[in-house]
Amino acid sequence: MIMDALWQSVILLITFWTSVRSYPGVYSKLCFPKDFMFGVATAAYQIEGAWNVSGKGEGMWDRYTHTHPERVFDHSNGDIADDSYHRYMDDVRLLKELGVKFYRFSISWPRVLPTGFANEINPDGVKYYKNLIDELHYNGIEPLVTMYHWDLPQPLQDLGGWTNPIMADYFQEYAKERTTHFTRLRLTVLLDAFGSRVRFWLTFNEPLTFCHDGYGGDDAPGHRASGLEDYLCGHTVLRAHAAVYRMFQQDYQRWLNGFMGITLDLAWIEPASPSQEDEEAAERTRQFFFGWFAHPIFSTQGDYPPIMRKRIDDISSRQNFTRSRLPHFTPQEVTALRGSFDFMGLNHYTTYLATTREVPVRLPPLFDDDMGVKLSQKPDWPKSKSNWLKVVPWGFRKTLNWIKDRYGNPPVLVTENGISLDRGLDDARRVHYIDGYLRALHAALTLDGCRVYGYAYWSLVDNFEWMRGYSERFGLYEVDFSSRSRTRTPRRSAAYFAQLARSRCLPAPALANFTRLQRSRLPAKFAF
Ligand SMILES: *[C@@H]1O[C@H](CO)[C@@H](O)[C@H](O)[C@H]1NC(C)=O
Ligand SMILES: *[C@@H]1O[C@H](CO)[C@@H](O)[C@H](O)[C@H]1NC(C)=O
Ligand SMILES: *[C@@H]1O[C@H](CO)[C@@H](O)[C@H](O)[C@H]1NC(C)=O
Repeated sequence: MIMDALWQSVILLITFWTSVRSYPGVYSKLCFPKDFMFGVATAAYQIEGAWNVSGKGEGMWDRYTHTHPERVFDHSNGDIADDSYHRYMDDVRLLKELGVKFYRFSISWPRVLPTGFANEINPDGVKYYKNLIDELHYNGIEPLVTMYHWDLPQPLQDLGGWTNPIMADYFQEYAKERTTHFTRLRLTVLLDAFGSRVRFWLTFNEPLTFCHDGYGGDDAPGHRASGLEDYLCGHTVLRAHAAVYRMFQQDYQRWLNGFMGITLDLAWIEPASPSQEDEEAAERTRQFFFGWFAHPIFSTQGDYPPIMRKRIDDISSRQNFTRSRLPHFTPQEVTALRGSFDFMGLNHYTTYLATTREVPVRLPPLFDDDMGVKLSQKPDWPKSKSNWLKVVPWGFRKTLNWIKDRYGNPPVLVTENGISLDRGLDDARRVHYIDGYLRALHAALTLDGCRVYGYAYWSLVDNFEWMRGYSERFGLYEVDFSSRSRTRTPRRSAAYFAQLARSRCLPAPALANFTRLQRSRLPAKFAF
């Protein structure tokens, strides 16, 4: 008994000390562990441009923005975007200036396989990524490569895209081509004592978004077949992920010393009230939004979340469908999917409130009816330029804890977090956003024991924000889209992030004094 009491006081003391240390007012310098990595993220279609040069094939987003400019807020497209295809050296120079450890970018499938099929490889496309990777390594920056960030080759979309199960096979061939290629590169490079090539891979970025919004909504391909094609898309994507992960594990992992994961997105979902119904609605939403992809891969049970299975089976049958609109995995697929990760990529931006919303069974089917939830946000949460993105840092800590509790504390890499604002270099609100969200992450890491290994800000540069065109800017660097050279200019947040990435400590107070930072490289106005 006495020993117990003694231990309890020791633990209390430790807890107290840890919280004092992390409480900004008392001990203001919040630092991240030595091996914690800071990085920034982009995606091919959003920055590369060069949509029809050097052998690149047409992608689904090329076709969509060209045939439906009216669906994009400012009627724009990614034809030129940041012109990173020609200006990747500029991008790497910015990365170097920021002092980040890693750069997350994506490979454009139609740039390397113009028709989508592996029978025709575009050497210029492969060379572009080889050059980029070389340049990153030369500057001591680790590449984190997303294999699929939404730009499906149009010929594959013509076959039905991700609703066609055969896409899993084509994705595997594409992935194998990529992996093989970079593996071969690695050998030559190893001979040059150049270090490893690509060690960190992500199969997919945000399948929730591109299946739910692409096949059930307004994003490319704009099919608007909610409650049907979105589930087919998710099913193929999950099968494709498992196949590629298992191939990587068997054929490459040991001698690549690499890691593969998938990036899923989760906004925090808070019950709108403490009622039992709203608690259930919130958890149901997390399962429909995140569990849809996380449960098959990261849970010990495997397969789709039971609540999703049950509700969609049930509603399908009451709609007189002869089979559930949510497809079934074979037992082999369940096994292949379960545990098919080395780490979890997480994109997190904001928080919603959930309240239950049951509607009578009706047709046509809708994902939202299957989920049975109404989402909202508090009017007094600080806004961004995007109507969906409100600034709610505490939701990040809850998100990380929920993942820890649901999926046995998997290693997490935050692959996107960021805020959109108007144009302008003095983006104090972006600095505040990053500060707030990183304090939440720090608490999850040091106080709650969540295994988070790194953080990537979205995005390095302003870029093509899908249906919002160039109207919403997420960059640490402002891009002048009216200049031929797509001039990149550091914002205040770039200086802040550079200080953070180098010191691994949050500059405190939130708006620290950046005078010591890279003064020669940044415009005078940053030396305030
Ligand atoms: C590429 O697309 C641009 C429009 O973005 C067009 O002006 C140009 O003619 C095209 N080039 C080729 C080779 O098709
Ligand atoms: C399903 O079929 C039954 C019997 O024909 C019918 O009463 C019901 O309205 C149908 N349900 C829907 C959602 O169409
Ligand atoms: C920033 O640091 C400089 C030089 O140390 C100092 O002169 C200036 O007053 C500081 N500014 C703020 C806002 O603390």
